[in-house]
Amino acid sequence: MRISEPKLLAGLAKLDVELRQGTSLADLTSLGIGGTTDLLRIKKHESIPCLLRLLDDSHIPHKFLGGGSNLLVGDGELPWVVLQLVRPDPEIVLEGNFAHVDAAADLGRTVTFCAKHDLGGMEGLIGVPGTVGGALRMNAGAYGMQIGSYVREVKVYRAAARQIEILRGHQISFEYRHTSFAPDDMMLAVTLELPSKPFKDILEGIRICNEKRRSSQPLGQKSAGCIFKNPPGASAGRMIDELGLKSLSVGDARVSDRHANFFVNAGKASARDMLALIADVRERVHKTYGVELENEVVVWNA
Ligand code: EPU
Repeated sequence: MRISEPKLLAGLAKLDVELRQGTSLADLTSLGIGGTTDLLRIKKHESIPCLLRLLDDSHIPHKFLGGGSNLLVGDGELPWVVLQLVRPDPEIVLEGNFAHVDAAADLGRTVTFCAKHDLGGMEGLIGVPGTVGGALRMNAGAYGMQIGSYVREVKVYRAAARQIEILRGHQISFEYRHTSFAPDDMMLAVTLELPSKPFKDILEGIRICNEKRRSSQPLGQKSAGCIFKNPPGASAGRMIDELGLKSLSVGDARVSDRHANFFVNAGKASARDMLALIADVRERVHKTYGVELENEVVVWNA
């Protein structure tokens, strides 16, 4: 979708929102799949309510993009524009055991920055690609920890109320790869409370998690992490592997031969290919195990 209305263009300039016309979302997602649309880069959180009013008045639908690491975007010209926060400087401010982090901050860099200041707890998230906002909204976790355990406060644009609100940790529920945020809420910043730990102990934890990840996941390839959530008490990866589906392909969309719950873009996969592969695997798992796998990957279909 292209923005061309002069009144809207003038409004964007006034709000200091940068317009990048005809952006390829394949370049902004870890899967390397996705069509094109206009990208709006937001420099100030406070401009968001006004920006969304402008877009609504011009009947321009939108979606919020985080780090694009858990996302499958449709092909071709996309029927909505994409909003993304620009990383501020600094993106993390420490105050005792509290880390105030902008949602646009890179998750891995946040973990290591806090580690250097003897703040631990998030070692398991090292190697998880994406932004802190993206991790927060899906309650990302690995190796026995989840980001939600450390959340004390969240600054969020609540689409239903059309305003920025501050939520305390206890007002948000964090479950396995799920939170109580509405789908159209936009994460803006978070305050984490992290346990004190010596840097060298945190580094050792990071080293162990990195090692486990390297030995079991296809890190060098284009993927969106795990495609499906694990069903209660089971592992989606193990079920897909047991069915002998590693390397199953539709076009260049392929079930990883390293970890069967990672689907990789082995070349020029389209969203159509990837969606067909997801549907096929889901059906085969259902047929054999009677389990309906739920997507972990977020799908923005055109
Ligand atoms: N397994 C297989 N074959 C495979 C993959 C896994 O037999 O192809 C077996 C493993 O040997 C192991 C079991 O299945 O016995 C579980 O595998 P793994 O330890 O890799 O964990 P997982 O349940 O597949 C989850 C998260 C990962 C996270 C790891 C480590 C989900 C959907 N996945 O994977 O998170 O990194 O645990 O904590 O919850 C993600 O969410 O994108 C993600 C990668």
